[in-house]
Amino acid sequence: MSLYDNLFELLPLGRGGVALPNRIVMGPMTLNQATDSGHITPWIVEWYRRRAAGGVGTLIGAAVFVAQNGRGWRNAVGIADDSYIEGWQACVEAAHENGALFGTQLFHGGAASRVSLLGHQPLSASDWAREGFDPARAMTAAEIEQAIEDFEEGARRSIAAGCDFVELHGAHGYLLHQFWRGDVNHRTDKWGEPTAFPVAVTRAVREVIGPDVPLIYRFSIHADDPAAPNQPVTPDSLSEFLRVLEAAGVDVWDISCWHESRRGYFGSDILLPDWVRRFSDKPRIVAGNLLTPPETSAYLAQGHAEATALARALIADAEWVNKARKDKADEIRAFEPSHMSALKEGTDPGA
Ligand SMILES: Cc1cc2nc3c(=O)[nH]c(=O)nc-3n(C[C@H](O)[C@H](O)[C@H](O)COP(=O)(O)O)c2cc1C
Repeated sequence: MSLYDNLFELLPLGRGGVALPNRIVMGPMTLNQATDSGHITPWIVEWYRRRAAGGVGTLIGAAVFVAQNGRGWRNAVGIADDSYIEGWQACVEAAHENGALFGTQLFHGGAASRVSLLGHQPLSASDWAREGFDPARAMTAAEIEQAIEDFEEGARRSIAAGCDFVELHGAHGYLLHQFWRGDVNHRTDKWGEPTAFPVAVTRAVREVIGPDVPLIYRFSIHADDPAAPNQPVTPDSLSEFLRVLEAAGVDVWDISCWHESRRGYFGSDILLPDWVRRFSDKPRIVAGNLLTPPETSAYLAQGHAEATALARALIADAEWVNKARKDKADEIRAFEPSHMSALKEGTDPGA
């Protein structure tokens, strides 16, 4: 028995008999420790190994570019051709040796990139200059078809590497999200329908991973967020988004509430995951400022999530889960901004 018993229950994902070993998921984190070409380094494998050994039941690998034109950052991880498979295999093994599940987060940055990184103008649903990045141009229909194939190939390679599931990165204003955003996607062809590209990618990925591998979809909406005032998501459009993606093959929602998972959405006190529950019965993994075992356990107990994705808490302490299990939550090292500088210098602050 532990004070936080509800963190340690299995969570069946409703597909292929796959179940999360416990309710703590390491959220995807781009740590910029890959080679210049985006291949996995021993540093990254050891990073995952430490978290799996520390009791995290499920690891979601960092946003992984599925195509060279989808790169978002220097030294971020890739899966853009078969030469990347071996590195991911090592990550999967490090997780499995410690009883954890592992999956990749398939990613295309779209407009969130730079000419200096890509060697050409970034691509997006429509012409769009995302703040802080170089102006992107609208993709041609052929480029969109290619991107769908790139996601599909990324999924195939993930399975070849032994992944237990795959996640699509549909959040945080990257390519999948750019198509869904009415303030970014102004296309007049069939890809102007906001869910058309996310659905096509989901279908293609579902097809290639087969019927037994869970497919997780991470999304964010930032309704009511002053940083995104033009995003016209409403309860109705959220409901439609979830409905069509579920029909296309999504099994689990990874709901990114950015930095706060305890605030209301759509002008109400209702949290985003609770809006999601009104429209979908699928399991919900929720991310956003869940830092300690009491907070995380209470969030689950209150019914806002079936599992929680922790990011900064697991940067700070790889042993977070083991300490929670042994009722030693007071020994957990808390996240501090200096941990980010340590990471930049190649030190693991949670070791
Ligand atoms: C260093 C760092 C890198 C991140 N990289 C990614 C990423 O690659 N993909 C993603 O979806 N979210 C990424 N995030 C967001 C986290 O997964 C998480 O949703 C967010 O940090 C909120 O959770 P937290 O409060 O537990 O940190 C990153 C966060 C951090 C701190």
